[in-house]
Amino acid sequence: MEKIMIQGGKSLKGQVDISGAKNSAVALIPAAILADSPTIIDNLPEIRDVEVYSEILQDLGADVSREPFSIQIDPTHMSNKPMPNGKIKKLRASYYLMGAMLGKFNRAAVGLPGGCNLGPRPIDQHIKGFEALGAKVSQEQGMLIVEVDRLVGNRIYLDVVSVGATINIMLAAARAEGTTYIENAAKEPEIIDVATLLNAMGAQIKGAGTDVIRITGVSRLKGCRHSIIPDRIEAGTFMILAAATAGDVRVENIIPKHLESLIAKLSEMGVDVEVSDDFVRVKGKKTPYRHIDIKTLPYPGFPTDLQQPITSLLTSAEGTSIVTDNIYHNRFKHVDELKRMGANIKVEGRSALIEGVSQLQAARVKATDLRAGAALVIAGLMAEGVTEITGVEHIDRGYQNFEAKLRDLGAQIWREQE
Ligand code: EPU
Repeated sequence: MEKIMIQGGKSLKGQVDISGAKNSAVALIPAAILADSPTIIDNLPEIRDVEVYSEILQDLGADVSREPFSIQIDPTHMSNKPMPNGKIKKLRASYYLMGAMLGKFNRAAVGLPGGCNLGPRPIDQHIKGFEALGAKVSQEQGMLIVEVDRLVGNRIYLDVVSVGATINIMLAAARAEGTTYIENAAKEPEIIDVATLLNAMGAQIKGAGTDVIRITGVSRLKGCRHSIIPDRIEAGTFMILAAATAGDVRVENIIPKHLESLIAKLSEMGVDVEVSDDFVRVKGKKTPYRHIDIKTLPYPGFPTDLQQPITSLLTSAEGTSIVTDNIYHNRFKHVDELKRMGANIKVEGRSALIEGVSQLQAARVKATDLRAGAALVIAGLMAEGVTEITGVEHIDRGYQNFEAKLRDLGAQIWREQE
């Protein structure tokens, strides 16, 4: 097993190119199977979740070829065999196979998804959507079986705003008969990205990015070429890193509009953020920032995926900051690790109360999930001494060349065998 080592105290300086969005990629790859001909997806992030997903499609008989930052998926020879365990358990987004296979074959038998352990992560809204389209859903030996004679469009109101359920229902409804309305839909940019791909394949989807999405089913979809949007969470992580290390970083190849909530919060803390058309420049400072309160919400609210990274930054802000996670109430596994590094944080219910300290100290810490890993890397760069981070496999799931990008900005970070 590997561990990440960080010598803290260096200011990050320079520019960093942001990769394609992980949470788009893991939806676009299964979406491609809905076509009858090959699809090429560009600006593909080179991360473990993408590798695992390509292997899953190959196991299902798809012809998958890879080039740097690009994947071609030919679904012509795919079969709808059951996918109980194994790779399915390695990632959360394997649930998109349910919608995609249901849309393609009228049947999906897929193991219940794995992914980051952030507390309970139900998929009742996905199931409600499939049922509304006429599918029968049952569970057998840890597998969800979803089947139907023919999918028929319907009106579906989501009780919880869910990224996964919104995309999964779009996938299942794209080739259904008639029209489907998803009401109280999630509005994340990744949802627009999936709708853009499906529309380029011939689907008729309107309203993605608003809270009502209308999908008029079509009988067939054809392959296309699509480029993935930039990863707003990777971009946000580097913006926080620049502030946390009193650095000066231009975060390139991004859509700044997707980062408005973070830009507002960093500015409120006293971080200097310059916003351009396709980059932001973040200039940090050595004197303590102001404390702030954050509540995570569905897009365009503050993203839960940046809650853990920004908590690390707030450990050294003046006074008490309160971070409340309204999406995942238990997403606080990073807190005990930050406390080992000298942070003063108390978790109460769904909130973390962070009392600023003057200096974090290096320690041996463990990444328990992807964004907890990012939070610990940020803390390691802020700390005095050499921090050791285990659980590196979580970080590799979602950040492309994380250490190389950090080294280019001047960080002292390397890997060792445990
Ligand atoms: N929820 C339900 N029922 C459902 C679905 C969701 O109660 O059927 C609840 C969840 O428990 C949660 C809330 O609704 O409290 C929102 O969950 P959502 O379905 O939006 O999350 P997700 O689709 O499973 C995606 C991202 C997560 C990100 C969340 C929120 C992917 C593969 N994952 O998860 O990303 O945190 O949306 O934005 O797109 C990450 O990248 O580190 C990550 C965890």
